[in-house]
Amino acid sequence: MKILVCDPISDDAVKLLKQSVDVGSDYRPDITAAQLLEVVPNYDALIVRSRTKVTRDVMLAAPWLKVIGRAGVGVDNIDSNAASEMKVKVLNTPDALTNAVAEFTVGLMLDLARRIPRADATMRKGEWSKSAFHGMELKGRIYGTIGIGRIGQRVAEIVHGFGMKIMANDIIPIPKALIEDLGVVVSTQDQVFEQADFVDIHVPLTPETEHLVNYGKLRKMKKSAFLINTSRGKVVDEADLLRALNEGLIAGAALDVFEKEPPSQSELLKNEKVVLTPHIAGQTEEAQFKAGTQVVEEVVRYLHAQ
Ligand SMILES: NC(=O)c1ccc[n+]([C@@H]2O[C@H](COP(=O)([O-])OP(=O)(O)OC[C@H]3O[C@@H](n4cnc5c(N)ncnc54)[C@H](O)[C@@H]3O)[C@@H](O)[C@H]2O)c1
Repeated sequence: MKILVCDPISDDAVKLLKQSVDVGSDYRPDITAAQLLEVVPNYDALIVRSRTKVTRDVMLAAPWLKVIGRAGVGVDNIDSNAASEMKVKVLNTPDALTNAVAEFTVGLMLDLARRIPRADATMRKGEWSKSAFHGMELKGRIYGTIGIGRIGQRVAEIVHGFGMKIMANDIIPIPKALIEDLGVVVSTQDQVFEQADFVDIHVPLTPETEHLVNYGKLRKMKKSAFLINTSRGKVVDEADLLRALNEGLIAGAALDVFEKEPPSQSELLKNEKVVLTPHIAGQTEEAQFKAGTQVVEEVVRYLHAQ
């Protein structure tokens, strides 16, 4: 049996793969879509991150394919309908990136509040612009999250330590412990958009969440409020976000994910009110170690059980 790794995974995960005596593997972290279609008939399993799109065509071209392992959380780069029709198992590593993404989100929040990247940029231009940087404190402010699953909960734990008030909206009941221990206020989506100083998005990309953040929602936000998105680019309508920023409807935004990645032609790149990062929220040594090794273990275990 043979596994094809289509995206970069940690060195420890590659080592683990090589130790698997009865399962062969090829490591092609830069494979293109065309190359994948050509070679996929030779494999029983694929391991991907978010770059490789495992489409229906890829699965149709792979008669021996039994399992697709995703090192990470969101499986929106895998056609899950096609996978279930063709009885191809899809595995992911839901917990591996949680803490990394949560800490990164808090970092973005601090950047928005204190404009640290902008201050750094002015220093490098030889400026000493103390008066240009009047920040705000997080203590006492309202943190609002749409989606309070694994990542949303971890962010809530951290910002509770900062003394922030926490509002959360979810489509499933919010655990009692979060309400009792962190004082999370269960809210409607509108309440979060209307009242929070930081509206933070932690939902998966689904047909229901695509463009969940649109002009209608953004215009409900306070003019002093910020939007943060580390979930998936398509959850935010970027054209609407730009309009809201240009019209001064919100104070700013921080984005780690984009409708099209990389967002090379996007007007967002020119907008001073936006902090942009290249989809790196989950990219820590610890998270990539966990995601890589867990996905290898699970895919190999699944193949052995066949
Ligand atoms: N930027 C990155 O590098 C990175 C890394 C990891 C995960 N992510 C993204 O973060 C997302 C969240 O991860 P998680 O581990 O917290 O997932 P999770 O499944 O634990 O939590 C998602 C929560 O969103 C809720 N939800 C779904 N639809 C909703 C809706 N319409 N309105 C309100 N709530 C809704 C769910 O009920 C759930 O509680 C992932 O799906 C992934 O897309 C991004």
